[in-house]
Amino acid sequence: MSRSLISVEDLRRRAKARMPRFAFDYIDGGAGREMALQRSEAAFRETCLTPHVLVNSATPADLGTRFLGRDWTLPFGIAPMGLPGLAWPGADLMMARAAEAAGAPMVAATPGTARLEAVRHAAPTASMFQLYVGASAEITEDLIARAERAGYDTLIVTADVPRPGKRLRDLRNGFSLPLRPGPRMLADLLRCPAWSLATARHGSPSLVNLADYAAPGASASGLAALMARQSSGRLDWQVFAEIRKRWSGKLVLKGVMTADDALKAHEAGADAVWISSHGGRQLDSAPATLTALRQIRSALPPDVPLAVDGGVRSGEDILKALEAGADFVFIGRPFLYAIGALRAAGPSALLEMFAAELEAAMALTGRRSCTRDGGERQKAC
Ligand code: FNR
Repeated sequence: MSRSLISVEDLRRRAKARMPRFAFDYIDGGAGREMALQRSEAAFRETCLTPHVLVNSATPADLGTRFLGRDWTLPFGIAPMGLPGLAWPGADLMMARAAEAAGAPMVAATPGTARLEAVRHAAPTASMFQLYVGASAEITEDLIARAERAGYDTLIVTADVPRPGKRLRDLRNGFSLPLRPGPRMLADLLRCPAWSLATARHGSPSLVNLADYAAPGASASGLAALMARQSSGRLDWQVFAEIRKRWSGKLVLKGVMTADDALKAHEAGADAVWISSHGGRQLDSAPATLTALRQIRSALPPDVPLAVDGGVRSGEDILKALEAGADFVFIGRPFLYAIGALRAAGPSALLEMFAAELEAAMALTGRRSCTRDGGERQKAC
């Protein structure tokens, strides 16, 4: 990574300069006044790690961990994100390849901009599939069947979009699919000629996973309407139980924020519970995910695996989540900042940066392992 791009904030700033505002705002923004987004970030900023000295860290700490039945090289991965192609064409596959090479998971989103089959092909062991359960049970079933045929072994069911989030930046920017550039958007596109040319060459980002279900020749706006129906609405515990029966692989419920719901998910057969406020893009008054993690960890049997995301911006933040009882940590926006800033080189550079920061934080705090049971500090000697 260049000397001027050495933190997530650097990548964010560079991405902002290189991307049209409506595209950057779609990625960067949250719901309402963006309080939930800020609260999750602030919880990490306000949490301390305690240094432990004379812990002999001559050999690097072990960053590997076990999660969802397999060993990962890193205890963190890439969260599912819709329309990643807005950062730069091909973003989905850039993240998939980087994750596969690093031994970290990458979750392909239902509203991805590469087909779920193509993501699996690019990350044959590291990819997981995120499912939105929407109005049409047939589409849901077909997406599950496609994920199965493509070879996915882990399904992440996202539960926190019963209605679309009210994202003020998108509303103010007039952001919709297909892109309908008004005078302001046009000025924005002219400010970013490389992005505009690349996007024109590849075609505007589109919800390709849903293209099969739209009427032949459906417009991008028809697809977007289908997505709105297919991301919201029908999911309840009964439907989740049906999905559990239907899917023989690992199943995760994403978007859980209370101990009650986490326990229900566990009892309903979820193999892990993923604590998330959707990056603050849904309920603006939601608490910080780190706070929810602490509450859920203390209420649940210790053997229930927990993942968390929201506001993780450094290796130290990853360690804070592990210290608070997470088994695995996911990160969203920073990977799209990295692509906006560095294109294809972004995701690998960021995975390396997070890994180096995490290892250093572990050395400084005397932690030798990322697993919950193996995370106790080495005795000072
Ligand atoms: C998301 N997120 C998300 N989650 C999901 O389950 N399905 C989806 O399609 C999307 N789409 C999406 C788009 C964009 C642009 C963002 C930023 C996020 C939420 C995502 O998986 C994750 O929960 C948050 O991004 C985590 O917060 P941070 O790391 O971005 O702060």
